[in-house]
Amino acid sequence: MLEGKKILLGVCGSIAAYKSATLVRLLVKAGANVQVVMTSDSTNFITPLTLSTLSKNPVYHEYFKAETGEWNNHVELGLWADIMVIAPASANTMAKMAGGLVDNLLTAVYLSAKCQVYFAPAMDLDMWKHNATRDNISQLQSFGNILIPPGSGELASGLHGEGRMAEPEEIVNFLADDIRKKLPLVNKRVMVTAGPTYEAIDPVRFIGNHSSGKMGFAIADELASLGASVTLVAGPTAQKSKYHNIKRIDITSAAEMLEACLQHFNQSDACVMCAAVADYTPAHVAEQKIKKTEEQFSIELKKTTDILKTLGKQKRNNQVLVGFALETNNEEEHAIEKLKKKNLDLIVLNSLNDSGAGFKSDTNKVTLIDSQLNKTHFGLKNKTEVARDICAKLVELM
Ligand code: CTP
Repeated sequence: MLEGKKILLGVCGSIAAYKSATLVRLLVKAGANVQVVMTSDSTNFITPLTLSTLSKNPVYHEYFKAETGEWNNHVELGLWADIMVIAPASANTMAKMAGGLVDNLLTAVYLSAKCQVYFAPAMDLDMWKHNATRDNISQLQSFGNILIPPGSGELASGLHGEGRMAEPEEIVNFLADDIRKKLPLVNKRVMVTAGPTYEAIDPVRFIGNHSSGKMGFAIADELASLGASVTLVAGPTAQKSKYHNIKRIDITSAAEMLEACLQHFNQSDACVMCAAVADYTPAHVAEQKIKKTEEQFSIELKKTTDILKTLGKQKRNNQVLVGFALETNNEEEHAIEKLKKKNLDLIVLNSLNDSGAGFKSDTNKVTLIDSQLNKTHFGLKNKTEVARDICAKLVELM
């Protein structure tokens, strides 16, 4: 969930600041890009050098770099972040945040930030219970900031009770859970097919096609990043998924793909049929390797089942079915024909006349046509960006 996220960590003056080192390390390990802003007080508890070494980024704690007189741009830092986490959040800093008081870089960044802000308080039991603290926390929550509740236990003062900053592991899990539950496709199951199919001629030969599987894998990754539970039915391909939680089913032939799709379609909220399924398969598969005895040799082919059309017939009203059309002429007309014939909610058209589109390449140029025949044309983009466009439309349809 935190992979690729830009996280701004604000560190306040509290003994819990020593835990920031572990927090930074865990966030970096989770794939986040972390920048740290500290209050001057917090540098008494942990050094900027420790946090810059662990985050692999410069650490900011002053408005100006004393040596060069350069300004640490708080607006830029605030805008850079996908999320801001203030941990430990001291009673003093929370009071400033609640009142809009800006007397250091951290509070200036906080006021400039447009992203979701989380705060993990750390303080003594009595400070935590004080009405002023309670009011400040309510005020911060009313601004949309999210409290990461403190734990209970032995405090630095020697007292025992609530006020101890949540452990770094708990903070990381809290952030990941909160981000996950806000994703648009959380609790949705989507099946994606990708790659070519291979149709056996004999034990060593097959009929295949040039599909690399890149587009289908990019779509599966994008759907997973949007929170969906993804089942990826993949033909023979060297592609790998970015996310471990994508359930991959490897198949070889069109018949195997049909079987896998029929098994999973019923439980799916949506299906994106991106695979380049063979339209014909040898009528007979030779048991032994065919010898080159004949001068002329022909293979009898029979039609495979159209998987998409089969799913289209079974589709319930609450399921969304997306197909692809690869065309060479009268592209839109043919795509609309397929959309209707296969009972689709959306068809992704790519034309082989567009250079950089279609099989093998890292880029694609698509037109999306929905069942109302609304058309959206996109320019040439890399397949990750194309996947984003397709999935954004899918989210809309779901
Ligand atoms: N498809 C399928 N099963 C097949 C053939 C195609 O599910 N046996 C799906 C593809 O995954 C794609 C869509 O149907 O989403 C359109 O595939 P395409 O090859 O463009 O069209 P076809 O229906 O095969 O028609 P034609 O080859 O005649 O253009």
